[in-house]
Amino acid sequence: MATDKTFYLETFGCQMNAHDSEKVIGTLEHEGYRQVTSEEDAGLILYNTCSIRDKAEQKVFNRLNDYKKLYKAGKRFGVLGCVAQQEGEKIFERAPYVSLVSGSASYRKLPEMLSRLEAGESRITGLDDRQTDEAFETEFTSRQNPYRGYITIIEGCDKFCAYCVVPYTRGKERSRTSTSVLEEARRITDAGYTEIQLLGQNVNSYSDPEGKRSFAELLAAVGEVPGIRRVRFTTSHPRDFTRDIVDVIDAVPTLCDHVHLPVQSGSSRVLKMMAREYTCEWYLERVEWVKAARRPISLSTDIIVGFPGETADDFIQTMDLLGQVQYDCVFGFKYSARPNTPALTMIDSIPEAEKAARLQVLLDRQREIQRVNYASHLGQVMEVMVEGHNPARGQVTGRSSQNKPVNFTSKQPIAPAPGSYAQVKITGTHPNSLVGEAV
Ligand code: 5AD
Ligand code: SF4
Repeated sequence: MATDKTFYLETFGCQMNAHDSEKVIGTLEHEGYRQVTSEEDAGLILYNTCSIRDKAEQKVFNRLNDYKKLYKAGKRFGVLGCVAQQEGEKIFERAPYVSLVSGSASYRKLPEMLSRLEAGESRITGLDDRQTDEAFETEFTSRQNPYRGYITIIEGCDKFCAYCVVPYTRGKERSRTSTSVLEEARRITDAGYTEIQLLGQNVNSYSDPEGKRSFAELLAAVGEVPGIRRVRFTTSHPRDFTRDIVDVIDAVPTLCDHVHLPVQSGSSRVLKMMAREYTCEWYLERVEWVKAARRPISLSTDIIVGFPGETADDFIQTMDLLGQVQYDCVFGFKYSARPNTPALTMIDSIPEAEKAARLQVLLDRQREIQRVNYASHLGQVMEVMVEGHNPARGQVTGRSSQNKPVNFTSKQPIAPAPGSYAQVKITGTHPNSLVGEAV
C-alpha cells in the first residue's frame, strides 16, 4: 500500500451517510491520513455505500469495477456503509481487490482496522450486526458541509417495515444522551454554524439514555443554543410522531417550518402489508396537527409505488392522499426488492413498466400541486440561507425555512458566502424552486 497515507472517499445515499463520512474523514485524519480529491491520487480508496434500492447498491460495484485497475498500482480499496454490512464477506468474492469491508456500526473500530490494513492484511471486516448497542461518537468529525452542521441523535432502526434494509444494515436503535447532543450543538455553533440538522433513521423514537429530555424537549433545547438560527430534523416515522413536536415548532422560532413525514402509501391495506403500523386516517390526523400550527409548516413525504400486491385501487388511494395533503415536496420511488426483508417473500407482482407508469402519474400530479403551492409565494419576502452559487446564471442558491430551494440575484459586488442569510423577494416560481432578488 502507498506509504503516504492518502485517502479518497466517495459517499452514496442519505444524509446519515453524508454525516458518517464526516466522522470517518475526521477519524482518518486523526490517524495521520490526508484526504485527496481523486481515486488516482489516493493510497486508500473508500466508498461509503447505500443499499436502500437495488440501483443504489449497483453504483458501488460499478465504481469498483471502473477503478479496480488501480489495485496493481498498490492502491487499496475499502467498502463502508450499508452495502458493506448487507453483503459482508461476499464483497471479497465479488471484488477480490477489496481489503476492508465495514458497516456503520463498526466505525469506532476504524483506527484498529486501518493499522491492520497498513500491516498488509487484505481481508479486514467490521460487521457488527443488531447486537451492537454502541453509538459512534467522535470528537474528530471533519465537517464537509459549509452551511449545515449534522448531529446524529439516534442510530439504527427497530421498525422493520417489510420493504426496508435499514434495520439490518444499521442495527438496533440506540440514542445518544441529550447532554452530549447539546454539547455537540454548542461546539458546532462555536465553529460558526448557524444551521443544525438532527439526524436519525427515526428521530421520533429518540429516547434519552439519561431520561432528561423527550425528542420535542431536545428540539427546543437545541433551538435555544446561543447562535443557532435554524434547526432541522430527519427523518420522522408517523407512528412515533407526537403532537408536542408541532407545539415546539410553534413555540421555538429557530425550528424550521418543515416536517418530513414519510407516508409510503395512501392505502391502509398496503400500509398493513408494509408493516407501517398506522392507517391512512391515523396519518392524516398527524397531518392535521401540522396544518393547524400557527406557523406555515411545509410537509414533505416519501412514497413507494408498486409494493407487492398494490392494486390499481390502492394506487388511486395514494393519489387521493396527495390531493388531500397537498405536500410541498414528494420523493417517489418504485418498489425494489431488498435482501433479508420480509417483503422479499411476497410475490413482486407488479411489472416494472407498471411501476414506472404509476410513478410517472404520481410525479405529474405532484408537479401540478407544487406549481400552485410554489406560486402562492409570489411577492413574499423570505429569509434564505445561502448554500452556493450558480455562476452561469449569476444566481445565488439557497433554501427557505420551509426547505424550498430559492435562486436569487444579489446586487452586492461579492456574492454572499454559504451559511449567510439574505432577505429575498420572490419574483418568479417553478414547481420545484422559487426565484427572487435580495432586498
Ligand atoms: N424500495 C423502494 N423504496 C424504498 N424506500 C425504502 N426501502 C425501499 C425499497 N425497498 C424508500 C422509502 C423511504 C425512503 C428513504 O426510501 O420511501 O422512506
Ligand atoms: Fe441508504 Fe438507508 Fe443506508 Fe442511508 S441508511 S445509506 S438510505 S440504506
